[in-house]
Amino acid sequence: MTMNHEKIEKNIGLMGILIAVAISFGGLSQIVPLMFQAEAIEPLPGIKPYPPLELAGRDVYIREGCYNCHSQMVRTLRFETERYGHYSLAGESVYDRPFQWGSKRTGPDLARVGGRYSDDWHRVHLLNPRDVVPESNMPAYSWLADNQINPDSIVSHMRALRTIGDPYTEEEIEGAAAVLAGKTELDALVAYLQGLGKHAPRPGVTPAVAEQAGAP
Ligand code: HEC
Repeated sequence: MTMNHEKIEKNIGLMGILIAVAISFGGLSQIVPLMFQAEAIEPLPGIKPYPPLELAGRDVYIREGCYNCHSQMVRTLRFETERYGHYSLAGESVYDRPFQWGSKRTGPDLARVGGRYSDDWHRVHLLNPRDVVPESNMPAYSWLADNQINPDSIVSHMRALRTIGDPYTEEEIEGAAAVLAGKTELDALVAYLQGLGKHAPRPGVTPAVAEQAGAP
C-alpha cells in the first residue's frame, strides 16, 4: 500500500489522471441526476403558452433587446425575494423560447413586474421613461406606438411553437388574427409586461411541483 502511494506521489502524470478521475465523480453526481430531472420539468399551475397579444409583445421585447438591461430571474437571495417576490422556478419558464433569464441588471428584474404599474404608466414609460422616472437612463421607444402588429407573423409563430410542443389549440391560433387586429407594438409590449409573473408562486408558498422542477 505504502509502495503504491509512493509510486503515485512520485509520478505527476499518474497523479494528475487519478485526480481528474476523483473530481469527475463529484461532477457526475451533480450532473447525471439533472439529465433525468429535465424530463420531469412541468409547467407550474396556471402557466400557459403566451396568448397572441403577449406573444407579439414578447417578440418586440426580444427585437428591441430589452434583455440587455433587464433579467427575468429572481435569485434565491433574501434581498432579491424581498424586492421582487418569490424566487424564479424552472416551471415558470417552460414556454419561454428563448428564455429571458440572466444577471444583467442595468434596470430592475422584470420577472414579477406584471400588475405593479398601470397600463398607462407603462405606455408613458416606454415612450419616454424620463416622463415618469426623471433619473432614468432607459432609452425611449417612441416608435412602438406607430408600428402595427402583423397578425400573420404571430399566427405562424404560434404554429411553429405548437410544432415544438406548446399546447396551443386550433381555435386559439385561428382566433389570433381577430385579437391582434389594429393593435400596435406598444399595446402588445404592455400586455406582455403586465402578464409577467402573473402566475408566480407567492412568497413563502413553494408549489409541490417546484421540488421536481428544480427548485433549490
Ligand atoms: C440601457 C438599459 C435599458 C434598456 C435597453 C431597457 N431598459 Fe427598462 N429600465 C432601465 C432602467 C435603468 C430602469 C429603472 C428606471 C426606470 O424605471 O426607468 C428601467 C425600468 C424599466 C421598467 C420598470 C421596472 C420597475 O420595476 O420599476 C420596465 C417595465 C422596463 N424598464 C421595461 C423595459 C422594456 C420593455 C425595454 C425594451 C423595450 C427596456 N426596459 C429596455 C434600463 C433599460
